[in-house]
Amino acid sequence: NLPSQVHITEVGPRDGLQNEKQQVPATVKVELCERLLAAGVDHFEATSFVSPKWVPQMADAAEVMAALPRPQGVIVSVLTPNLKGFESALAAGADEVVIFGAASEAFSQRNINCSIAESIERFRPVADAAKANGLRLRAALSTAFGCPYQGDVPVSAVVDGVERLRDLGCDEIGIADTIGVGTPGQVQRVMEAAARVYPIAQLSGHFHDTYGQALANILACLQAGVARFDSSIAGLGGCPYAKGATGNVATEDVVYMLHGLGIRTGLDLDRLVDAGQWISGFLGRKSLSRAGNALAAR
Ligand code: HMG
Ligand code: MG
Repeated sequence: NLPSQVHITEVGPRDGLQNEKQQVPATVKVELCERLLAAGVDHFEATSFVSPKWVPQMADAAEVMAALPRPQGVIVSVLTPNLKGFESALAAGADEVVIFGAASEAFSQRNINCSIAESIERFRPVADAAKANGLRLRAALSTAFGCPYQGDVPVSAVVDGVERLRDLGCDEIGIADTIGVGTPGQVQRVMEAAARVYPIAQLSGHFHDTYGQALANILACLQAGVARFDSSIAGLGGCPYAKGATGNVATEDVVYMLHGLGIRTGLDLDRLVDAGQWISGFLGRKSLSRAGNALAAR
């Protein structure tokens, strides 16, 4: 009994491009967003307001935000690790801010330079300010299926993270497989456990495809009743603090699978394929989307 409709949050401009070695000009980032909007994307991560010393690729966040088209009904989302990031996001007119924590202590330290408990205290004023200013508040919970520094992550640590983020008032919590190690049975167990402490309609899945498990994991989520996913055009992505992690599951592949299952997404696959081929061309490499490459070759 699968959902009849799925919500996709496109994360390519942020998760995808944050990891690029070559500096991608703001104009290219903006054009990518325009192409995604033309494909029907109505919710996307445009950039991150993080320390430019930590993630130089996102240093042009304000410039990108200022140049983005802002059609009605589209949620423009940005990452904000602290109040400083939130204030910049608010000034830039973001519709949604994303606080990002982890289910493993080691990853929390590497990624945001603080413990899990400290991160929650940093997120609290961001959450309060988001609510006070009418912004949507989303959270990402990294390393929910495994940690590059610590290895296995117990389900109880994920549940604990979800409860803490829930208590901050998050409108959505994304359970993230940062390094793409999860497998479908595990994903089902973790999602079911998370759904016991947080409404399943507000849970989402964020899968990197490092081990080729992402589509299977999304199917496991669908079977568990999860109907929101992050994905990245052309399978761009990775995390600078998760060595070896490859891109997110490709939006084109997810949409191909969902449409094949008769599930509505509101997205235009052909236009997504065009956008994915275009950005891959700019980056000078082949798209990581299998469906995208197959459709483009027809
Ligand atoms: P810190 O060094 O502990 O922070 O970094 P600090 O408060 O001591 O500040 C240090 C410097 O950064 C200061 O500048 C601050 O002004 C500046 P200085 O005085 O040295 O010139 N700073 C900022 N600048 C701009 N915007 C800000 C900001 N905050 C401080 N918001 C911090 C802590 C969190 C800032 C840092 O660790 C950081 O920026 N980390 C970013 C990590 C990141 O972006 N990771 C990738 C995104 S998460 C991800 O990809 C996972 C996800 O996809 C899900 C998944 O797959 O798992 C979401
Ligand atoms: Mg990610």
